[in-house]
Parts: sequence; C-alpha cells; structure tokens
Amino acid sequence: MTKGQRPKILIFGKNGQIGFELCRSLSYLGNLTALGSVECDIADPHRIIDTLDHIKPDIIVNAAAYTAVDKAESECELAFKINADAPWITAEWASKYKALMVHFSTDYVFDGTKETPYTEEDKPAPLNVYGESKLAGDINIQNSGCDHFIFRTGWIYGTRGKNFYLTIQKLLREKEEIRVVNDQYGAPTRCRTIAGITALVLMQYISNRELENKDVLGVYNLTNSGKTTWYGFAKAIREKKRLENKSLKLADIIPISSKEYPAPARRPENSLLSCEKLQKVFGIKTPGWKEPFSSL
Ligand SMILES: NC(=O)c1ccc[n+]([C@@H]2O[C@H](COP(=O)([O-])OP(=O)(O)OC[C@H]3O[C@@H](n4cnc5c(N)ncnc54)[C@H](OP(=O)(O)O)[C@@H]3O)[C@@H](O)[C@H]2O)c1
Repeated sequence: MTKGQRPKILIFGKNGQIGFELCRSLSYLGNLTALGSVECDIADPHRIIDTLDHIKPDIIVNAAAYTAVDKAESECELAFKINADAPWITAEWASKYKALMVHFSTDYVFDGTKETPYTEEDKPAPLNVYGESKLAGDINIQNSGCDHFIFRTGWIYGTRGKNFYLTIQKLLREKEEIRVVNDQYGAPTRCRTIAGITALVLMQYISNRELENKDVLGVYNLTNSGKTTWYGFAKAIREKKRLENKSLKLADIIPISSKEYPAPARRPENSLLSCEKLQKVFGIKTPGWKEPFSSL
C-alpha cells in the first residue's frame, strides 16, 4: 500500500450481517471488492488463493464464517474448514504479500466462567465446536505472522439476516408467550456499530502507516457496552414494539434458565467483553447497547 493511494480492499462475506454493513462503512477508505459464497467459496482453498492472486488486495477483510452454532456440533469438519482453514490460507497469503488482514472472532472462544468482562489477555477455553473452530482461526492468523486485526465480538443483531432481535420480533407477534434464557450475560451489539468502528480503526491505521504502528495490531474486543441477559434484551425489544404501536398484541416474555432451554451447543454464561483496549489505543468508546438499538 503506497502512501496517498486508495488501498484495494477485499471483503469476504458481503451478504452477512457484518459484511453487509462493511460494504458501506469501508467504501470511504478504499476501492472495494466484496464477495459472497457464490463468488468465492472459502471452504475451497484454491478458490481463496485464485481470488487473492487475481485481486491482489492491500487489505483483506474476512467477515465470512460458519456461524450456525448448534449445527456446528454435527458439522465439525465444515465449521473448521471455513472458520479455521480459510483464515489460515488467507493469512498466509497476507503474510507473503504484505497485506493487512482484518478478521472477526467471538466471545464463544471463552468458557464464560469469569465473573468480570473478558479482556484480550484472558485464556480462551471454548465450550462448543463453533468456539473451537473460531479460536483455531484466530491462532492460525496470529501464527502466520501477517499484519492483522482480530475483532472479537458477540450477540450481534441488525435488521437483516438471522439474529435474536428479528426472531423475537417475529415471535412477539405470533405467540402468546415466549420463554427466554435469563442466566447468560452479554451486550447486544449492532452489526452497524462493528462495521463503523472497524472503519474508524482502519482509517487511523492507514493514515499513520508511515509511522511505526505495528504495535497497535492484534486482537481487540469490540461490542456495544453495558450488560443484559437474553431475557433483558427480549424485554427491551418488546418495550420498543409496544411504544411503536400501543394497540399491537404482543406475547408475554417469561424468564427461564439455560437448563430449561437445552441446545446441542453449550453457551458461556458470561459473554461480556471489555473494550478498554480499543479505547486506550484508538480512543474509541463503544456506545451502550441500548443506543443503536433504540434508533432502529
Ligand atoms: N452473529 C453473531 O452473534 C456473532 C457473534 C460473535 C462473532 N461473530 C463473528 O462475526 C463474523 C460475522 O458474523 P455475521 O453474524 O455477520 O455472519 P452471518 O450473518 O452468519 O454471515 C456469514 C457470511 O459468511 C458467508 N459464508 C459462509 N460460508 C461461506 C463459504 N463457504 N464461503 C464464502 N462465504 C461463506 C455467508 O455468505 P453467503 O451469504 O454469500 O452464503 C454469510 O453471508 C463471523 O466471523 C462470526 O463468527 C458473530
């Protein structure tokens, strides 16, 4: 990447929650090429390398992932291909051609037993196959030696795709009663917040490139701030719907424990990530989880 030139940015995962938002937020920073699984199936190493060789990006942003947490328990091989092998192949290419790699990881790399928010230094110990495959991806990128940012996030929602916010909205209209887990803690994070902050970090990084700024690379937690449970989030969604239309009949929400909601994959009790490093290094303070939610 030469100073003064717009970098070539390649986004994998353009149709995903984060990827879709990145297509907008990163368009100001460089010349974008954005691909979905049809244009480049990252489960196929040859397709990744052919794509990278053809586009020769300065910055590779990988927002593609195998994200079906429960299904991953029975599709372990595919989850690892997409979440561990694909980032590894991409990172090796980035290392060889001096490209910057930007990748997204998850709170599910932790077991959730810590009582305070997880920092970037905490030791991962995933509880499920999805978390294991994502952690393997993080380690592969770190071991490749490429310049990279790994943003760890969690509890993502937005107005498209598959997420808790959209599911609860639908169930509120369709059901009499919804039972929602009230013993897992996290910070609902809007995908637009993640994409916007990714752009802010990259802007700072690109504009300071002539400086010795390698020490700012690495892993960063990136979520909205604050704390709630899935039940707390569901209640906030219900309240928002009620304010929008007082005559709408909405399901009641009942708090339950995770034991009462068995799922194939175990989830961490504490999904809170401390974003202090992001603030310290880049001066970026993430908004409280209710802020971007109330403007939807
Ligand atoms: N969702 C969450 O709550 C959450 C929490 C923590 C971390 N994350 C991480 O954040 C990142 C983005 O998550 P998201 O929620 O935005 O994901 P998402 O909405 O599920 O989208 C994932 C995208 O990955 C693409 N993809 C899947 N398999 C692919 C393949 N074989 N080849 C190419 N592309 C493939 C899909 O592309 P097509 O649509 O084109 O098929 C899809 O659009 C991921 O790294 C995820 O692990 C997510």
